[in-house]
Amino acid sequence: MQEVMRKVEEVLSRYEQREEALIAVLQDLQDAFHYLPKEALIAVSERLGVPYSQTYHVATFYKAFSLTPRGRHLVTVCTGTACHVKGAPLILQALERELGIKAGETTKDMEYTLETVNCLGSCALAPVVVVDGKYHGKVLATKVLSLLKGEDEGEKAEES
Ligand code: FES
Repeated sequence: MQEVMRKVEEVLSRYEQREEALIAVLQDLQDAFHYLPKEALIAVSERLGVPYSQTYHVATFYKAFSLTPRGRHLVTVCTGTACHVKGAPLILQALERELGIKAGETTKDMEYTLETVNCLGSCALAPVVVVDGKYHGKVLATKVLSLLKGEDEGEKAEES
């Protein structure tokens, strides 16, 4: 708790204490904790003078934010139509097997969170997997281990 509040204070000190700073502050806190602890949301609301309901809305609206703890590494498998047709279900199964978790879960050691998304806008590269913001296209289910180990360089891109 104290650790959380110390970090909140540190992040808030980087910005003007105004409503406009809300998203930037939440991004920094998400980066720091890999999720947004409730006490942090409350403190940010008070300091920026934003109603808690509004802070909560922002925190739940953007996919980049999470209210539950995420692992150090975020693995996102696209299961949109183009990726589905090109084998996304097999990739997802391989990752679930490798990590020992289901989509939407985090490994017990807090290393990996596995998520699915419905089209990343890179259908020409289907099937697509994003690991820590790096896009990997034309992924083979047999190569998921190298993705997790970071052996496949991939392409850094902004998540949509
Ligand atoms: S369906 Fe996967 S990127 Fe579009």
